[in-house]
Amino acid sequence: MEGIKKAFARAKSESRPALVTYTTAGYPTIAETPAVLLAMEAGGADVIELGTPFTDPIADGPTIQGANTQALANGTTTTNCLNIVRDARKQGLRAPVLLMGYYNPLMAYGEERMLQDAKKAGVNGFIMVDLPPEEAVRFRQHCINYGLSYVPLIAPATSEKRMKTLCGIADSFIYVVSRMGVTGATGALSTGLPALLERVHKYSGGVPAAVGFGVSTREHFVEVGKVSEGVVIGSQIITTLRQANAGEGAKAVEEYCYGITQRRNPQVSQVDGQNGSDSTNGGMSGISTDANPGGDGSGWISHAHGEAPKDISTADPTKQPASESDPTNGTVHVDAVSHGTDGPGLADQLEALNTGDPDETDPELMPSRFGEFGGQYVPESLMDCLAELEKGFDDARNDPAFWEEFRSYYPYMSRPSSLHRADRLTEHVRKDAKPGMGANIYLKREDLNHTGSHKINNAIGQILLARRLGKTEIIAETGAGQHGVATATVCARFGLKCTVFMGAEDVRRQSLNVFRMKLLGASVVAVEAGSRTLRDAVNEALRKWVERLDTTHYIIGSAIGPHPFPTIVRTFQSVIGNETKEQMLELTGRLPDAVIACVGGGSNAAGMFAPFANDASVKLLGVEAGGDGVDTARHSATLSGGKPGVLHGVRTYVLQSAEGQITDTHSVSAGLDYPGVGPELSGWKDSERAKFVAATDSEAFIGFRILSELEGIIPALETSHAVFGAMELAKTMKESENIVICLSGRGDKDVQSVAEELPTIGPKIGWDLRF
Ligand SMILES: Cc1ncc(COP(=O)(O)O)c(C=O)c1O
Repeated sequence: MEGIKKAFARAKSESRPALVTYTTAGYPTIAETPAVLLAMEAGGADVIELGTPFTDPIADGPTIQGANTQALANGTTTTNCLNIVRDARKQGLRAPVLLMGYYNPLMAYGEERMLQDAKKAGVNGFIMVDLPPEEAVRFRQHCINYGLSYVPLIAPATSEKRMKTLCGIADSFIYVVSRMGVTGATGALSTGLPALLERVHKYSGGVPAAVGFGVSTREHFVEVGKVSEGVVIGSQIITTLRQANAGEGAKAVEEYCYGITQRRNPQVSQVDGQNGSDSTNGGMSGISTDANPGGDGSGWISHAHGEAPKDISTADPTKQPASESDPTNGTVHVDAVSHGTDGPGLADQLEALNTGDPDETDPELMPSRFGEFGGQYVPESLMDCLAELEKGFDDARNDPAFWEEFRSYYPYMSRPSSLHRADRLTEHVRKDAKPGMGANIYLKREDLNHTGSHKINNAIGQILLARRLGKTEIIAETGAGQHGVATATVCARFGLKCTVFMGAEDVRRQSLNVFRMKLLGASVVAVEAGSRTLRDAVNEALRKWVERLDTTHYIIGSAIGPHPFPTIVRTFQSVIGNETKEQMLELTGRLPDAVIACVGGGSNAAGMFAPFANDASVKLLGVEAGGDGVDTARHSATLSGGKPGVLHGVRTYVLQSAEGQITDTHSVSAGLDYPGVGPELSGWKDSERAKFVAATDSEAFIGFRILSELEGIIPALETSHAVFGAMELAKTMKESENIVICLSGRGDKDVQSVAEELPTIGPKIGWDLRF
């Protein structure tokens, strides 16, 4: 903590802003990173942020996300990150180092252990991008116990009250995330920045502030330095590393930093042979080669060389034109390929958010947690827009006129969906069951809804909400394409602009649905980042949403994400369970004994289960995607095989490595191929209100085949998991008992996948369709 304070004090005494530089640990290689840290210091950096890589960095732009992906591919672990600091200290690094990252890897490592090990390695503090305020206060207290600093983040949209609180917990400096509007080549500041800094200074009690945004040139640095005590540069350093020749990254970074600061700390220079950039070298020239675990910068000499600073501009985002589609062979035209938007990410998000005061929202609006799960693990930027959404949704759900409007679209949606007994399926189950056993199986036919699945319930509800909030554009993510199709449909119906983000791999797998969305007038953007699947589509949609918050609503497709999304989605999907209750009472005179649903993110399950949650006699069974088996690495059974963590802004069960990195998932059904799950389902699991099992790809195929052949209903592959799970459950229940399967979708979209998979899966289950 002291080291950071001294670094800012030194810069102040020299009448210049402090330079705070960022790089990602393990990029471009683990071995080079200590040299990169030394190079930053040599080029005049006063404080260093070392990014600990994470698979799903929702607050970062594509440059830093790309560095994260590369670092993880290089095998960078939390232990490596600490060793990088240790090595750099051994080699003479004096600048204070802050670890900057996301909460999940920290949770996985263990907070206590992390603080102990970080202290020993020579780390000075932490910046946690997605820690909600209440946890930040707790974590900061923990940091203080170890003499480490916790640096809070402040955004342009941060309210006065919140700013006061955040400034109050700052012990070394405050990270102000803003964005500069550059006009021409002069690097003029946006008018908002001085006013923002004025507000920060009002509450900071003399604690310095450093401004982070897309700074790339000396001119920007000087301009920003006029209103703040420090300036943060991140993406441009990563770009410098990326563009450098192999092995010359450190040298390039030193030159770049020098171009910004026009000062050097020569004792650790990587340039002109003053010190080798070889991190194993350890030999230092210059004033001091002693290890400096305190990171207090002692021994620094600042002097300006006469060289002219280099002007390095920020790279523009890449957009790729769409190609011709041919859905018959799986190639389909998309409107853009998103490599994301460049820039500081977090800054972009914050700039866009100038909504209401979160402190004015009623904390009792609706619970944000389900037991320990739920919450809002999002960058400060998102807090206000989530508060706006929560308020808007709360008003809507308490307004009878809103529900009247929702119901007025039932004819369009084909609601209520029918419910009937599956006679031949019931008989089939009884053949394999003990005498007297084999429950009656009923089907709740969400597959008969307009667009072919339950997704339309949520899409209609949310578009009505969006209109109430005055939004004119809709964005959505999709995996299998069903939610994308439902969203594109309602956008066509209501005349709203629609953009759907879809992982590039899913675009390939679900090309027919891409074509359907385009037929409906939506733009489809293929997301090339990360694993190129649903989770990357969610990341990208979240980023895009905060950039255009004033005009845009994000229709999230499952009961996932930060509060209030899981509650919003569950509320609109509860039509499934509510109708089931009424229809079963009418048909059988009593409640069902069990209800069953497949679980991807959990929206059809939450919609079926929630209305029965207080009916203790009704068993709730969720069936997840077991892929090749939950004991293998290839499955998507989050509740069965995952552990609590944080993904996409919410605390819930997550499929993750021991390091807290989100793992790649597999399922034969794209709609269940997701490493997280709705927090309400996690709550039901831990309270044992619901039970969750997994069906493998082969078992799902059995369910698919049986429902097709015995009931004349081709179910979606997602739904087929629930069919199999229900058959197993029915066998264990009495003939007098009744169970209801949520038939979440129809299988037309999956016919091609089934044909492709049959040669592999068919022989395992004795299903041969060759003519
Ligand atoms: C037919 C169908 N069922 C289920 C799901 C899984 O989603 P959730 O768990 O949110 O209901 C999907 C997702 O695409 C789907 O298309």
